[in-house]
Amino acid sequence: MTQNSHAKLRCGVVGVGSLGQHHARIYDCMPNVELVGIFDSSKDRASEIAQRHHCRVFESIDDLGAHCEAVSVVVPTDMHHRVAMQLIASGCHLLIEKPICASLAEAEAVVAAARERGVLVQVGHIEHFNPVMSFLEQKVSQPRFITADRLAPFNPRGTEVGVVLDLMIHDIGIILQLVRSPIARIEAVGVQVLTATEDIANARIVFANGCIANINTSRVSTKKGP
Ligand SMILES: NC(=O)c1ccc[n+]([C@@H]2O[C@H](COP(=O)([O-])OP(=O)(O)OC[C@H]3O[C@@H](n4cnc5c(N)ncnc54)[C@H](O)[C@@H]3O)[C@@H](O)[C@H]2O)c1
Repeated sequence: MTQNSHAKLRCGVVGVGSLGQHHARIYDCMPNVELVGIFDSSKDRASEIAQRHHCRVFESIDDLGAHCEAVSVVVPTDMHHRVAMQLIASGCHLLIEKPICASLAEAEAVVAAARERGVLVQVGHIEHFNPVMSFLEQKVSQPRFITADRLAPFNPRGTEVGVVLDLMIHDIGIILQLVRSPIARIEAVGVQVLTATEDIANARIVFANGCIANINTSRVSTKKGP
C-alpha cells in the first residue's frame, strides 16, 4: 500500500468477533482515522459489524490490505501468523492482538518479515495502557516480591493456545515492565483440565536483582469475579 496523501490514516480490521468489533468501533470514532473496512471469515458477522460502522466488507485479506495503511489482526491466535504475513506482504502496519502468535518461531517470522518490509507491528498488550500501570510505574521502584492472580471462568474463546499465552502473558508483561532486571530462573507448572493445553499454571520467576514474582493463572476458575 502506498503512503496516504490525505490526513486520515486508512485502517481496517481482520476478525470482528468479541474483541475485533471494538477495534472497528474505536477506529470508527477516531478523528484522524478512516475505518475503510473489515474482513471476517464469517460473512454474516462481517456484514453486521460493517453495517454498524458504515464501512466496506472485503472479500479477501489481500483486498483489504491493498486498501489500508494499518490493520488490526483480531482473529484467533493460531491464525495470527498466517493473517499477519499476508498483510505485511501488502505493506500494512499491524496491530496484532495479544499474544503475537501461537509459537516463538511464528512470532520471530512475523517480526523478521515486518522489518524486511519496513512496516510497524504493535501487539495489543492492553494492560500496559491500564491507568493502574502508570500509577505503579510511578510509585513502585525496585519491587522485591510480586504476586499476581488472574483467575477467570471457563470460556472456549482463547483456548486455541494454553493459558500462559492466553492470560498469564498479561501479568508477565506487567512484571517485566516493573522489575526491569534479567530473569535468572523460572520454575513453572501447568495443568490441563478442560482443553488440549494447560488451563491452570503457576510460575515463579527469579530475577537477577533478587526480585521474585509468583504468578497464578487459571481459565477454569469457579470463583465469582468482584
Ligand atoms: N488484549 C486483550 O485483552 C484480549 C482480549 C480478548 C481477546 N484477545 C485476543 O484477540 C484475538 C481474538 O479473540 P476474540 O475473543 O475476539 O475471538 P472471537 O472468536 O470472538 O473472534 C474471532 C473472529 O475472527 C474470525 N476469524 C476466524 N478465523 C479467521 C480468519 N482466518 N480470517 C478472518 N477472520 C477469521 C471469526 O469469525 C471471529 O469473528 C485472540 O488472539 C485473543 O487472544 C485479546
